[in-house]
Amino acid sequence: MINDVERVLVTEEQIAEAVHRIAKEIEKDYEGKEVLFVGLLKGSIAFMADLIKAYEKTCTIDFMAVSSYGAGTESSGRVNIVKDLSQPIDGKDIIIVEDIIDSGNTLSFIKAYFAAKNANSVKICTLLNKPSRRVVNIDVDYIGYDIPDEFVIGYGLDYNEHYRNLPYVGVLKRSIYS
Ligand code: IMP
Ligand code: MG
Repeated sequence: MINDVERVLVTEEQIAEAVHRIAKEIEKDYEGKEVLFVGLLKGSIAFMADLIKAYEKTCTIDFMAVSSYGAGTESSGRVNIVKDLSQPIDGKDIIIVEDIIDSGNTLSFIKAYFAAKNANSVKICTLLNKPSRRVVNIDVDYIGYDIPDEFVIGYGLDYNEHYRNLPYVGVLKRSIYS
């Protein structure tokens, strides 16, 4: 598995730093409120687990699964709900937790979906952001790191469902997917 990594882009230490920084920022911004963290499966699992452990205020969690990527490295642009929330969200203060924002298609769809369900507020939190790839304009409230336009894997992120268990974020060798 590690032989398929071109280079490490975000180390375990850098991930831990971003997780802590974001958790503290959210604690401050949501003073007196109860956050519902919604993780997008499966990519967000590692980030979601670390983020809620670093978050020291009362909160609840839920998960949704959507698909926009097929088996390749390019977003298809179509978003399908594979697993919906397990509860009504009207009146809730929601933070969507995502692994990476690329075209923005997934998040703009989900944000609109939540707004239509009468959430009190919806913010977006992502570990990684690829601003140069944006197709849809979208406000991202909490960002771990902006990264260049490279296909990355690890810490939840996959290529064909593999590499999610790497503890850091690495650039996948081109020879693996081209
Ligand atoms: P978007 O809808 O184009 O913003 O795509 C977001 C989703 O695509 C993310 O949640 C990831 O699952 C996937 N994705 C985007 N870029 C990468 C990458 O570099 N590696 C692995 N998955 C990615
Ligand atoms: Mg994802």
